[in-house]
Amino acid sequence: MEIKFRDSHADNIKSDLLVIPVREKLLNEPALRAVDRRLKGHLRARIDKSKFAGAEGSALLYATAGNLPAAQILLIGLGSAPVATDTWRKAGARARKEAQAIGAGDMALYFAPDKELENLAAAALVEGAQLAAYQFSKYRSKPNDAATVKSLTLFRSGMKKTAALQKSIDAAQALVPAVFLARDLVNEPPSVANARFLGAKTKDYCQGRGLSVEVWNKKKIASMNLAGLLAVNRGSLEEPRFIKIHYQPRRKAKKKIVLIGKGITFDSGGLSLKPSKSMETMKLDMAGGAAVIATMSCLPKLDLDIEVTGYVPTTDNLPGHNAQKPGDVIRYLNGKTIEVLNTDAEGRLILADALALGAQQKPDYMINLATLTGACMTALGTQVGGIFSNHQPLADHLLRASQEAGEKLWQLPLVKEYKELIKSSVADMKNIGGAHGGAITAALILQEFVGDTPWAHLDIAGPAFAESDNALGPKGGTGFGVRILLRFLSTL
Ligand code: BES
Ligand code: MN
Ligand code: ZN
Repeated sequence: MEIKFRDSHADNIKSDLLVIPVREKLLNEPALRAVDRRLKGHLRARIDKSKFAGAEGSALLYATAGNLPAAQILLIGLGSAPVATDTWRKAGARARKEAQAIGAGDMALYFAPDKELENLAAAALVEGAQLAAYQFSKYRSKPNDAATVKSLTLFRSGMKKTAALQKSIDAAQALVPAVFLARDLVNEPPSVANARFLGAKTKDYCQGRGLSVEVWNKKKIASMNLAGLLAVNRGSLEEPRFIKIHYQPRRKAKKKIVLIGKGITFDSGGLSLKPSKSMETMKLDMAGGAAVIATMSCLPKLDLDIEVTGYVPTTDNLPGHNAQKPGDVIRYLNGKTIEVLNTDAEGRLILADALALGAQQKPDYMINLATLTGACMTALGTQVGGIFSNHQPLADHLLRASQEAGEKLWQLPLVKEYKELIKSSVADMKNIGGAHGGAITAALILQEFVGDTPWAHLDIAGPAFAESDNALGPKGGTGFGVRILLRFLSTL
């Protein structure tokens, strides 16, 4: 979608859809007054009759019937001031959906945010307008309607295209394909999107200046002593893969970052089999890995002065004849051992390898993303991810990135007293805790493998997958984490 800027009054705009965001109750935007004057008060009358008051999330569509250069007008409620960037994101999404519904080829949007928010609001608006159009229809016999909207014009009287404005819009445009890639990888059926597939897709997408990809097969994984990945893979007929993506900046790197994503392509639970209902969406269990692959794929466009390595350990978790058994012990490359008491707590087993390997690189920061625990979802619901960290400045930075990106995170504590709960009678620790605090005990197990590396763990079990259609996309993979990571990396 092309983004244009225009210095114009609303009544001169020729467009298939003229979008006017309005503030709750006031409804006195100059654009609204200008078009209503030309429509001889008919729009205002419609507003009064329909009880549209500009509440956030509300909208009103009005056909101008030839009385204006614009064919239709869409009023979008912004709620009361101050208007948050996320409100602009949702307004962009709403505009795009309504435009799509009426088959509009272009839309023009009256853009008059608070001055100091202009760049952020514009980026959010463009982001919303793009993200809302995502579809996954390759498995439908009749494809969904193609996207009709080809351009979005931001206008107001005195609208100027500044370099800073253009830059933040470019950044928003750049992250959209990455979010879509992460969604596509999650939505792909699990018998298609196996470990080999993820490796191959990574090679397809992570190309370009500075990026290189290595995909380790089972033999190489064994020679590197990635014992957790091998143990989880034992119940599968498919080989595991360990995906390594490296970004080397053009200039000298100011920081070195390791990103790690859980890549369980299907989680049946293994011998500790899940009930069928819980398995329905378990193709989502590689969403952390998908977010890392997608984030890495975007880096050449951003040209940042940081060195970034992405690791994605990937396999499915199945109860095949050679599957690991409750009671088995895994010995890791850093010497630590884990007793596996529940084969459904497999994410921590494969992340442990990657965290130990990552810590050896002595990065400035190490961040992992994982659909790790149902417990985190119970605590925070489906719209908020949990963040754990051994380094508060890193957590603070990620929380800020999360807020700006419009992907919600909430910090949970690494309660050291709960280490009692993961004590094993035969090994250094066991892979499950007690009846309560499951998101925390899982995080404590991960922490055992990071040494003193500044580290953050994002438990994205809830927000990685939307149970139903929402403002920024349809039911299915959300691409959660890509926007946080890109924002974080861009502001280091
Ligand atoms: N992949 C699941 C976590 C999950 C659950 C993600 C629901 C998304 C939605 C993970 O591997 C798992 O099975 N965790 C267990 C851990 C338990 C056995 C200690 C869980 O949360 O029940
Ligand atoms: Mn599991
Ligand atoms: Zn899992």
